[in-house]
Amino acid sequence: MKAEHSMFDSMPKHHWVYQTARGLQVCGDSREILGYIRENSVDLVITSPPFALLRQKSYGNELQSDYVNWLSDFGVEVFRILKPSGSFILDLGGAYEKGKPVRSLYNFRVLIHFCDELGFKLAEDFYWFNPAKLPSPIEWVNKRKVRAKDAINTVWWFSKSDSPKADITKVLKPYSKRMKTLLKNPESFYYPKLRPSGHDIGINFGKNENGGAVPPNLLAIPNTDSNSHYLRTCKLIKRRSHPARFPEELPGFFVRFLTDAEDIVVDIFSGSNSTGLICEELDRRWFSIDNSLEYAALSAIRFMEGWGLERIKSCVEQMEAGEFLNLTKIPEYQKKFHYIEVTK
Ligand SMILES: C[S@@+](CC[C@H](N)C(=O)[O-])C[C@H]1O[C@@H](n2cnc3c(N)ncnc32)[C@H](O)[C@@H]1O
Repeated sequence: MKAEHSMFDSMPKHHWVYQTARGLQVCGDSREILGYIRENSVDLVITSPPFALLRQKSYGNELQSDYVNWLSDFGVEVFRILKPSGSFILDLGGAYEKGKPVRSLYNFRVLIHFCDELGFKLAEDFYWFNPAKLPSPIEWVNKRKVRAKDAINTVWWFSKSDSPKADITKVLKPYSKRMKTLLKNPESFYYPKLRPSGHDIGINFGKNENGGAVPPNLLAIPNTDSNSHYLRTCKLIKRRSHPARFPEELPGFFVRFLTDAEDIVVDIFSGSNSTGLICEELDRRWFSIDNSLEYAALSAIRFMEGWGLERIKSCVEQMEAGEFLNLTKIPEYQKKFHYIEVTK
């Protein structure tokens, strides 16, 4: 397979930070960078925008609507670059209005604006449940004890058409014990009967062995990573790791569900590039954009497992000084991502 980036050839090289066998990390404002990508060329955009940066503004309707307008500029470009079969996954954390135990509606405003004004369809609403989330906000949950802890992010699955590419059989979950028993012996387990819902739980239901259970739109994924190669290495080289990472399983679920090998996945607020790493592992081509050179350069650490610390440090420093790093030329990288051998 070739490390190809022809779709980005028009992009000025000074934005390029590093390249792997499958992807390219650039640094710049996504509103500008997306302009270099051809229309109808991308299979999936998956991202988590920096709501926290705007938190000081996150009160009152007018300022909330500023946020919607700000994000809308990115949304317009995402719509343009997506293939008609493409999807856009947008992870948005919930928020309270400043100083009040009243929820902000910003994530729902984004949803409605993107569908009503930008032309997206809501293919499905997903909810990411982080069971490990600490109770917050402290004032309403811990001190006054008047609200439950906020442990759910809304994850909007937007599409450009009514039928975006999707295959739920790629993300089936292991069957429950009860389901396994039913599948083994449907006759004795369930005599054909109609449920109050009208679902016919009959013999045929038991014959439908699909290799796993269809997952719900509630994704329970703990965000507990404290010992990954990326985090350990940042610590060892005395650099601050990205403070708002999502767990790789989150992009991983949608990358498996909505794309095939070789498809193109873009993250427009890539941070520590969790999306790029999972795409590399799943054989998708990826393209990640962040406007912080520091975050973009540090994210290369994700592809440097097994390297010496000094080597990692000097590569990060080179990228931060504006030098482009082509990892595919580096033997340590070739060892880890073995398929690079095929590219020669
Ligand atoms: C919530 S973080 C994303 C974290 C990422 N999902 C991860 O797992 O590491 C949002 C990122 O958006 C970047 N960002 C903010 N404004 C941007 C812009 N206009 N263009 C590109 N990136 C931007 C920030 O530097 C930050 O790293």
